[in-house]
Amino acid sequence: MSKQFKVAVVGATGAVGEVMLSILAERDFPASEVIALASERSAGTRVPFGNGEIVVQDLASFDPAGVDIALFSAGGATSKEYAPKFAAAGAVVIDNSSAFRYDDDVPLVVSEVNPGQVANRPRGIIANPNCSTMQMLVALKPLHDAAKIERINVATYQSVSGGGRSALEELGRQTGALLNFQDPDPQRFPVQIAFNLIPHIDDFLDNGYTKEEMKLVWETRKILGDDSIQVNPTAVRVPVFYGHSEAVNIETRDTLSAAQARELLERAPGVEVVDERGPAGYPTPVTHASGTDPVYVGRIREDLSHPRGLNLWIVSDNIRKGAALNAVQIAELVASEG
Ligand code: A2P
Repeated sequence: MSKQFKVAVVGATGAVGEVMLSILAERDFPASEVIALASERSAGTRVPFGNGEIVVQDLASFDPAGVDIALFSAGGATSKEYAPKFAAAGAVVIDNSSAFRYDDDVPLVVSEVNPGQVANRPRGIIANPNCSTMQMLVALKPLHDAAKIERINVATYQSVSGGGRSALEELGRQTGALLNFQDPDPQRFPVQIAFNLIPHIDDFLDNGYTKEEMKLVWETRKILGDDSIQVNPTAVRVPVFYGHSEAVNIETRDTLSAAQARELLERAPGVEVVDERGPAGYPTPVTHASGTDPVYVGRIREDLSHPRGLNLWIVSDNIRKGAALNAVQIAELVASEG
């Protein structure tokens, strides 16, 4: 019989954690046991798993001995405190927070882009990239391999689910309030998100960019293993529940036509091209991405202002490929090590 793994999901009651559980069941991950962990607040409640439910346990009092693989999505502070403890107890930790992403001895892995890095984990921790970087690189890797991308201009249109359950609830609540002529009363976001756009995700840094924007710079370089690649990011929160979209412009060293790019993308793992150049012939979060696995690419066209420029529209479910699915795909790579 092939090896079975004892798997823990930390943050199992959260927006990403619940999808980690459903993807583990959906993909029939070889688990001997799946353990759901969250804060003391949720201990004793139940979360769906497969056709049944599992009881949530309190992370703080849980003994990690015997856990083979731990998927963490409970925020950076929880990861910083508990991921090293799980790793010390022998688990491979796959961490969805940004706590370890920029450490040299922690690999940052997109399963279609740099799967080989999974084996390079001296601390027993593997980091799952930021959702926006994740979907962008699934689409850009085949173009980078073919024509060497030198510069990326990207503007993101990020759904509220990236901010967790409280952010999903805020968009729902504000939409209802505004349709009833009531005060939107922003709590989770700095200003009203319903019927609005917010060019501010994560903290502002000294250079005037937000941390969410700099993640696109730092993580692109680390995952592609190329510190020379230039990234010019703007990250925007939009009133969409699930699915991030990105308007991406690339400048390549070698000429790459839109037709060549389309052909490469049609063969790329994890990518689905939707590019019919007419009404509804392009991906959107609602019509394509939400609840599905692929990274969708449309609006592929040559840059009128640059001889080696291309424009793309990249859409994916940020909770699935952008977080939970990639974490499970990393777990599958670890499980296949034998
Ligand atoms: P809980 O539901 O018990 O608060 P989201 O990103 O959707 O907000 O979810 C965050 C997840 O992280 C939830 O499962 C939440 O559990 C969990 N979490 C937050 N803080 C802690 C903590 N200190 N210890 C364990 N789990 C935590």
